[in-house]
Amino acid sequence: MRSPFPAGSASLYDALALRGVVPGPDIVDLSLGTPVDPTPEIAQQALAAAADAPGYPMVWGTAALREAVVGWYARRGIPGLDPDGVMPTIGSKELIGWLPTLLGLGPDDTVSHPGLAYPTYADGALMAGTRLRPEAGLPSGDGVALAWVNTPANPHGAVASVDDLRRTVAWARSTGTLLVSDECYLTLGWDAEPVSLLDPRVCDGDVTGLLACYSLSKQSNLAGYRAGFVAGDPAVVAHLVDVRKHMGMIVSRPVQQTMTVLLGDDAHVAAQKERYRARRTLLTKAVQRAGFRIDHSEAGLYLWATRGESCWDTAATLAKAGVLVAPGAFYGPAGEQHVRFALTATDASIATAVERLGALP
Ligand SMILES: Cc1ncc(COP(=O)(O)O)c(C=O)c1O
Repeated sequence: MRSPFPAGSASLYDALALRGVVPGPDIVDLSLGTPVDPTPEIAQQALAAAADAPGYPMVWGTAALREAVVGWYARRGIPGLDPDGVMPTIGSKELIGWLPTLLGLGPDDTVSHPGLAYPTYADGALMAGTRLRPEAGLPSGDGVALAWVNTPANPHGAVASVDDLRRTVAWARSTGTLLVSDECYLTLGWDAEPVSLLDPRVCDGDVTGLLACYSLSKQSNLAGYRAGFVAGDPAVVAHLVDVRKHMGMIVSRPVQQTMTVLLGDDAHVAAQKERYRARRTLLTKAVQRAGFRIDHSEAGLYLWATRGESCWDTAATLAKAGVLVAPGAFYGPAGEQHVRFALTATDASIATAVERLGALP
């Protein structure tokens, strides 16, 4: 057996133990971006209504689901997408992780990804055995087969502007690079308007060579269902459907039907966003009062904060005070002096975290 991933990377708990900190059972865990609020009632009802599913589902998704995705984009100012350029995915992580492999990329190819990022872009490239090109900013240069952008970004919540994305599309078209944007925080803009790669202001309505991935995990508290989709260039999507058929990479029919219902309903998304807005307001004040500078964080579910010291020291101080955060170094060397506070905690946990931050030395 052989794993492409580096062995034995230390867990957060191991790293804290090395600094003599053993988090107690009542620690407020703000280190993970996992939703904690209930899955909306309409989702649970849709899932129950779709429980009778004796036949195999379609890799490409039902026509109703692909139309629901097209409608979802149309309500966000992106009209006229081709439903043939839409495919459901088993959450977005699996597509991100497997895309280089599904495209048949290998050792002679280069995958570009943000250097400070969600690790799955690099993990997918490692799985396929390609070369990796971590970028400090947006992708550039020659010889890149597949380039990832992530807007709004995890861990730091920066939002790429229309101009940034337009320039990146022009670059991708001039170099023949497949450009893929991971947009799972698209509906969670606070101080900046998140823009999709498929937005006509970005791509002039031509999605050739472009894909966007989206997920219902965050917008609909649906991470446990594994529900996402990819949309964009119909020729690339047709290839993905073809390969995935052979590999059994299919979203279950009950989940497809649930997604269809949820993508037609903006009310539950808006309600969840307001819960996060309230938590963000409270946590932002507490983090700033505790002497942190918050960088970016214009969108998404995290506060990216620094006290100008090693992220490990900050994480240890916070853990001692009863708040667990993600050290920025987990996301790349440029995160060495930041920590990531997640907003994905209950109101009660956020209130406790605020109190504990207030007592920090
Ligand atoms: C940037 C980014 N992309 C993708 C995902 C994967 O989400 P899911 O697989 O639940 O759709 C996450 C999850 O936290 C994320 O932060």
